Amino acid sequence: MAWTPECWPTPSQLDVSAARIDFPILARTLPSGKPLVYLDNSATTQKPQQVIAAMSQYYENSNSNVHRAAHTLAAEATQSYEDAREKLRHWFSAQKSRVVFTSGTTEAINLVAHSWGRANLQRGDVVVLTEMEHHADIVPWQMLAEERGVELRWVPFDLETFELDMGAFDVAVEGASLVGVVHTSNVLGVRNPIEQMVKSAHSAGARILIDAAQAAPHDRLGFDELGADFLAVSAHKMGGPTAIGALMITEDAFTEMQPFMGGGDMIREVHFDHSTFQENEHRFEAGTPRIAEAIGWGAALDWLAQWDTDSIHSHSLSLARFVADEIRAIPGMRVFGRQAEGDGAVVSFLHDSIHANDLGMMLDAKGFAVRTGHHCAQPLLRRFDIAATNRASFWLYNNEQEAEDFVDAVKEICQRFA
Ligand code: ALA
Repeated sequence: MAWTPECWPTPSQLDVSAARIDFPILARTLPSGKPLVYLDNSATTQKPQQVIAAMSQYYENSNSNVHRAAHTLAAEATQSYEDAREKLRHWFSAQKSRVVFTSGTTEAINLVAHSWGRANLQRGDVVVLTEMEHHADIVPWQMLAEERGVELRWVPFDLETFELDMGAFDVAVEGASLVGVVHTSNVLGVRNPIEQMVKSAHSAGARILIDAAQAAPHDRLGFDELGADFLAVSAHKMGGPTAIGALMITEDAFTEMQPFMGGGDMIREVHFDHSTFQENEHRFEAGTPRIAEAIGWGAALDWLAQWDTDSIHSHSLSLARFVADEIRAIPGMRVFGRQAEGDGAVVSFLHDSIHANDLGMMLDAKGFAVRTGHHCAQPLLRRFDIAATNRASFWLYNNEQEAEDFVDAVKEICQRFA
């Protein structure tokens, strides 16, 4: 039977203790003998056992290719794969739009560059990006700029308030064909004024692509209402498996795209001298798709649907605020971000005399998993004249005790080694 929105329960307030039980990995002890405290959720979240079970169940009982055969397993696999698409459409309120599966946010942005960019951008056309972008929303455009002679314009941000210069944005967008902007920075946690940027981009006649990889774990995004042309997300940042993501596309933008990967499933007819293509999302899903991963993502949405998204956001952000305030007060420590309402639950920090790698390793020895490095945003870090930060990022299963223990660990290391 096909999935329908009625299959999801009315969401309740997040219950952190109840949620944690579904993540067996959170009970793990590390080789150091310390219990794991997982604070690297912006890199990837852990997966509830329901997601792991759904993927195993598919491989154990229904493994088959999709859209291709008349047998029972093929029908089951096809139904589950397309159900996952419908769940996504419902989750992100993209009922009027197209939902194309990709390998993740990176491939989703590359799909825009190849399928929309190559069909619509010529020498001298302008793409506007911000200095807050992840490499995934920089490098594909640099490649296209090189190939096509497209001009890239960069919107700066303020190093004290971490806010985009919206005056500069309004100037940059004049005459532009496309804007690419990160919804929520993976380094700073800052949520950009996306609604305003969508309006300005459209007033200037530009299409706009939102990198929502970091927003999706705590925001339903409302794609149709937002009015952006493209929105890219990854499953693995929201409890789903790695290797799958999606690009949401408005009907108008969809008609302006040309397939860039050819092969099975995306065609209507193939002749020796030409081929014709599918009109629906399959047009951009050449080859055997990520069936188990789509099913796992669908299971992640089923699991998430039990919790009120606002309560997930406010819980994660309150942990980030507590940690950021405590870390800011440590002598020699600098926090990059503001943890404002709507921001991601991310705390990037750097000590002026303890190297980020050393701090990351010392935290690991105490059981704390944080990310250390440039976070795939080298140009952003260069604006601060730094090469790395430590970054703690929180999600729905982190609790107050973990946040307090983390702060104590950072303080202890700083007292000993600063
Ligand atoms: N972009 C991911 C991060 O911020 C991998 O860690």
